[in-house]
Amino acid sequence: MNYTDKNITLGKVVAGLPQAADIFEEHGIDFCCGGHRLLAQVIEEQGIDKNSLYESLQKADDERKSSYQNQGDDFENMSPVALSAYIDDKHHSYLREALPEASELLNTILRVHGNSHRELFHVYKLFGQLKTDLEQHLLKEETLVFPSYGQTHSDINETRVVIKELMEEHDAAGDILKELRRITNDYNIPDDVCGTFERTYVKLAEIEKDLHRHIHLENNILFLEKQNNQ
Ligand SMILES: [Fe+2]
Ligand SMILES: [Fe+2]
Repeated sequence: MNYTDKNITLGKVVAGLPQAADIFEEHGIDFCCGGHRLLAQVIEEQGIDKNSLYESLQKADDERKSSYQNQGDDFENMSPVALSAYIDDKHHSYLREALPEASELLNTILRVHGNSHRELFHVYKLFGQLKTDLEQHLLKEETLVFPSYGQTHSDINETRVVIKELMEEHDAAGDILKELRRITNDYNIPDDVCGTFERTYVKLAEIEKDLHRHIHLENNILFLEKQNNQ
């Protein structure tokens, strides 16, 4: 994340870097109800030393990244704090870009090819459901579960209840992915369509692939740790 970007809001900084909450608090910056405000503007209004603030943010970001980068792909031996940071940076960030992108592509091809490819209406509806479900799901993980790995005082029983819910949501997402694959005939591109159609199916297949890896890391490693330990 580029913190010196003039258009970056306080909320966006904390969403991408949870440690920024402490840094903002130290500087008396209200990032919660005032989360929609621009960081650059707040710095100016409150007369904050911008170099030292940017430096602290960058340092926290570097530390967060290096917590998993040095460990390669050895997910099972990663600390839960590092693994949740990895999932957030790699898979959650990916979905936040890929879901709206696929949604827009689907909208376009539905208008052009909907008449001759009626299955697209079904694809559109299912994907819309998946997108809405996942947007809620990512926020639930980032708000209720990921931060709990760094805290010793978090309520383990409460977290387990949320994790059970999240795993049920994974199953529901998995079912939608299977159905999407079935009705698109394994994302097979019909002969009579344009390049945008092809791009849409390639994108949907890419989202499926990424989600399989993402859900695996959560179900089989990260969440399992919470169910077994403490
Ligand atoms: Fe996730
Ligand atoms: Fe998840």
